[in-house]
This record gives sequence, C-alpha cells and structure tokens, in this order.
Amino acid sequence: MAGKFITFEGIDGAGKSTHIAWLLAFLRSAGHPVVATREPGGTPLGEKLRELLLSEPMHLETEALLMFAARREHLDKLIRPALARGEWVVSDRFSDATYAYQGGGRGLSRDKLLALEEWVHGGFQPDLTLVFDLDPAIAAQRLAGTGNAPDRFEREPAEFFAAVRAAYLERAALDPGRVRLIDAGRAPEEVRVQLERIVADL
Ligand code: TMP
Repeated sequence: MAGKFITFEGIDGAGKSTHIAWLLAFLRSAGHPVVATREPGGTPLGEKLRELLLSEPMHLETEALLMFAARREHLDKLIRPALARGEWVVSDRFSDATYAYQGGGRGLSRDKLLALEEWVHGGFQPDLTLVFDLDPAIAAQRLAGTGNAPDRFEREPAEFFAAVRAAYLERAALDPGRVRLIDAGRAPEEVRVQLERIVADL
C-alpha cells in the first residue's frame, strides 16, 4: 500500500508536538512504516538553513526563498524517496506554513508564494494537513510556560500570530478536503479524539 504524507501546522505554542508523537506511535502500531520529519529542516542542509532562519534577521523575501530552498532539498532527499518506498511521512510543517507566516504574518504576496510553490512542488500536496487552531493569547502563555528562550518567530507580537492564524483558517477554507482544523484549545485527550477521527478517514 502506498504511503501517505501528513503535515502538522499551527501557530507557535498550539501544541503540535505532543500530538505528532501520538500519531507516530498510532501509525506504527497499525503496522505502517513512518518517517518523522520537520520544516524548516529534515535534511543536513535544511537543518543548517533552519538555524539561520530561526536566528538571523533577513528580508522577508530571503526568508521565503530559504524556506522553499530547504523544502526543495527535503522533497528530493527525504519526502519523495520515503513515499516511493511506501512509507508514511509525517512532517511538522510544510508549505502551508509559508503561506501563513511569510504570507499572512509578513505580508508577502500570494502571487510570489504561488510561483515558489509551483516551482518547488507543482501539483504535489500533502494527503492530509492538520491545522492546530488556537487563540494566540493562549499560545503565548503556553510558550512562556516552557521556559525555553524564544526564537526569531516566537518573539513576534500577538498581532503577527493573529495574522498567521487567519491565514491558516483561509488555507483550510480554500482546501477543506486536505486541510482539517483541530480545536487545540481543548484538553489533550479531546484533541486526540479529533485527530483519531480525522486520521481514520484517511
Ligand atoms: P517550529 O517551531 O514549529 O519547529 O517551526 C519553526 C518556525 O519556523 C515557526 O516559528 C514557523 C516558522 N516557519 C515559517 O515561518 N515558514 C515556513 O515555511 C516554515 C516551515 C516554518
């Protein structure tokens, strides 16, 4: 059976990580070979680009280009080969994040994003995208509670995350078959039930 490509999205602090770990365990227990990966990152070069992206101030177009450069490498070296071997790929973020952060958050035009997306992955899209939707004020509290030093994105103000969230909601409205919203404000067990239902459909 062919593998599936599942991506997790949402504003920083929405709580993707715990649920990614759960989904990986769930898929493995169902007997599927699964590769877990992330963006920006997922390859040695992509991880170097990630370090730069999360720390160095840069022009917003440089930021978008580097996100797609890392993605080009990720698709070529990891995502497509794994899917071709029949494995499932679960990625913590993919191109919807660029639409949400560089498009919604920073204001890069949709035309430029579409051109980059077309260049890097044409008609290829995840089979399923789970958007963890959460009020930015609650996400900020969750992030502060981790005690970790915030990166360049996590330091952005609440208005930035409100715009990122709105862009994710727009992505879900544009492609409701692929992009599914998860109410991340619920208790973890309830979030898991939502996830289980959606993944069972797949
Ligand atoms: P993470 O903290 O969820 O690992 O993601 C790293 C950060 O990179 C997060 O703040 C979102 C941001 N990001 C973008 O701005 N655009 C993108 O295309 C991707 C993949 C991530």
